[in-house]
Amino acid sequence: MSRIAYVNGQYVPHAQAMVGIEDRGFQFADGVYEVCEVRGGRLVDERRHMARLDRSLKELRMGHPMSPKALGLVMRETVRRNRVRDGIVYLQVTRGEMRRDFPFPPAGTRPSVIVTSRSHDTAKLEKQAAAGIAVVTVPDVRWQRVDIKSVALLPNVLAKQQAREQGAKEAWLVDGEGRITEGASSNAWIVTRDGVLVTRPLQTGILPGITRSVVVDLIAREGLGFEERPFTVEEAYAAREAFVTSASQLVMPVIQINGRPVGNGAPGLIASQLRRDYHSQAEFS
Ligand code: PDD
Repeated sequence: MSRIAYVNGQYVPHAQAMVGIEDRGFQFADGVYEVCEVRGGRLVDERRHMARLDRSLKELRMGHPMSPKALGLVMRETVRRNRVRDGIVYLQVTRGEMRRDFPFPPAGTRPSVIVTSRSHDTAKLEKQAAAGIAVVTVPDVRWQRVDIKSVALLPNVLAKQQAREQGAKEAWLVDGEGRITEGASSNAWIVTRDGVLVTRPLQTGILPGITRSVVVDLIAREGLGFEERPFTVEEAYAAREAFVTSASQLVMPVIQINGRPVGNGAPGLIASQLRRDYHSQAEFS
């Protein structure tokens, strides 16, 4: 079965799914995106993802390509046409196609919208969660507006490749003061020796992760100790547990940082518990 993409109003096989060579997403990374989890054929936390998309568009002074409701329908239809039960749906909106010129194209230029969906290898993901992942630290060289979920991801790509070449699954980005900002495609967390969950605050050089926000709610519900503050690489080395959160990995235990074991070198109890409970706090639609 060939995969089907939504491209500017049409559902087409990937081989025929095209945007123009002068699309601003292609030439300037002038676009935004969302990745939403699909579980049991339903979207997870669609409302929060749509709210973040809305914010990203506003921050970049981009128009809405269509109503959030219509976008939701397109995402669901793309999921359905690809027969995805458990996986992700990817949505990208760019400022459209126009003769290459840095300032915005004329008002009325149609934004480009693409939606794709693909299944997870659920068994592989669960195996990974049971084993835990390794991370390596990499200097954070990104721009200052990483709170916007833009498709300008070159530093993330380079960091992730470095991680892969060092045998790790994720790169943890480190700011000028030796503090971890976030992962190349996830938010970063530790659990201190005293059992307190720590993650970097919003508005301090991180993407406001949707999975992060659901985990924050879950922590409050469970009455766990929680501090929103930056933490250093040294602190992470000394942590009892570490984990990352993202729509594609959910809560993923980290067992090694730069080759050093975290805690006893096995996935932590709290991280594993949060992973198990995650969907009881998430919203399905
Ligand atoms: N990445 N930080 C960065 C830099 C990210 O790219 C992501 C998501 C997150 C976690 O956000 P959320 O919980 O909303 O997925 C944090 C997605 C999954 C990606 O680019 O594939």
